[in-house]
Amino acid sequence: MNILLLCLASGLLIVFLRILFKFLKSNQALPEAIKDSVKEELRGPNTAGFLTMSKLEKKIWYEEEVAFIFRLIEDISLNLNRDEIARHIVSQVQQFLNAKISVLILIDENTQEARIRYAQGLEEEMVRDLVLKKGESISGWVMQKNEALLVTSLNNEAWFKKINKEVYFKNSFISVALSNDKQPLGVINVCGKKTGEAFTKEDLKFLTSVAKMAAIAFSNVRLHEQMQEGYLKTITALAATIDARDPYTRKHSENVTKYSTEISRQLNCSALDIEMIRRAGLLHDIGKIGIRDEVLLKPGKLNQEEFEQIKLHPQKGEAIVQSLSFLKEISLLIRHHHERYDAGGYPDGLKGEKIVLGARILAVADSFDAMNSDRPYRKRLSPEIIKEELIKNKGTQFDPEIIDCFLGILEKHPEICGWQ
Ligand SMILES: [Fe+2]
Repeated sequence: MNILLLCLASGLLIVFLRILFKFLKSNQALPEAIKDSVKEELRGPNTAGFLTMSKLEKKIWYEEEVAFIFRLIEDISLNLNRDEIARHIVSQVQQFLNAKISVLILIDENTQEARIRYAQGLEEEMVRDLVLKKGESISGWVMQKNEALLVTSLNNEAWFKKINKEVYFKNSFISVALSNDKQPLGVINVCGKKTGEAFTKEDLKFLTSVAKMAAIAFSNVRLHEQMQEGYLKTITALAATIDARDPYTRKHSENVTKYSTEISRQLNCSALDIEMIRRAGLLHDIGKIGIRDEVLLKPGKLNQEEFEQIKLHPQKGEAIVQSLSFLKEISLLIRHHHERYDAGGYPDGLKGEKIVLGARILAVADSFDAMNSDRPYRKRLSPEIIKEELIKNKGTQFDPEIIDCFLGILEKHPEICGWQ
C-alpha cells in the first residue's frame, strides 16, 4: 500500500517538476524587490483584473500559481485524512484567490448525496444542513457535467439563478468539478472576491489545477480505504473459520463486535476508536487458529496443560495482527481481551485502567456472549442470571463503568441479544 502511494506521489511530483521546468525555461526569475511591489498592487483593492495586468504582473501571477500548486502537492499528496485535505485546500484557495467564501463538497459513495466537507465564510448551519442530490443546484450541475464554471455576475445568468439552492452563490463565483476517470467526486467553489471584483479566466484556470490535485488526493484516500476494507474482509473470513470450527461458538465474533461497538458508541468514543473496537471484536479470537482441534473443541473440562494452551491465544492473535500494518493499532486490544479489572486476568495481569479501554469493552462483550449462548455442557443462561453475574463481577472481573453502560443498553434494547 505504502509503495503504491509512494508511486502515485512520485508520479505527481515528476509531472509537476516537468511543468515547472518548462515554466522556468521560458521565464527568468524576477528580483524579489520588484515582485514584492507588484504583489502589493495585485492584492490591493484597486486591482483592475487579469486583462489589464502588465506583462510583469502576469509573470508574477504565474510564478505564484506554480509555487502554490507545488506546495499543495507537498501538503496533500501523501495525506490520507479526507478532512485534513479538505481543510487545507479550502483555506489555501480562499487566501490565494482573495475570496469571501470557499467551499469543498464531496459525494458520499453510499448515498450518492453531496455534502459540504469543509467551508470558510459560511454559517455553521448551512455547512451542516446542505445536502444535494445528483444534478441538484449549481454544484450538482457542475458535478454531473464535470464542468469548470466561471460566472462573473449571477444576475446575468437567469438559468443558474433559478436552479441555485445554495444561497451562498451570489454575484461572481467559480465552481469546478472534482472527478477521477470513473466518476464525479465532488466540487470546489469560490464565491465573491473581497475586492468586489469578478473572478477572471486566470482564476478559473488556477482553480481547475487545484481541483485536479484535489481529485487525485481524494481518490488516493478512497483507494486506501478500499484496500483496507479488502484486507479486513479477508481476515474476517479467516476469523469466521475459527467460529465455524466449533458449532457452539458460531457467530461469536459477530456478536462480540455488535455488543462492543454499541458500548463504545454509548461511551462516546471517537469514530476512529469505534472502528478499531469493531475490527478487534471481529478478530479478538484469531489466535485460536493456532490451537489444536482436540483442545479447542474438547467437550469436557480442560486439564491444566490444555488450559495453558488456550490461554496463549491472545498473544498468538496479537502476533498475527501485528504483521499487518492496517491492523497494528488493534494488537493491544486483542492481547488484553482476557485481562481482568482486578488484575487476575491473562496474559499480563494488568489492573484497572492500565488495560486499554477497547480491551475492557471486549472483555464484557466476550463474557456476555459466552453466557448468552448454548455450550456443549449447558444451555444459555437466563437473562436474569446473566444480569446478576455481570453485576456480581462489577469492579472485580469487569470495569464497573462498562457494566453500567451495557446494562443500560440491555434495558433499552433487549432485542440486541435476542432477549426481546
Ligand atoms: Fe478469547
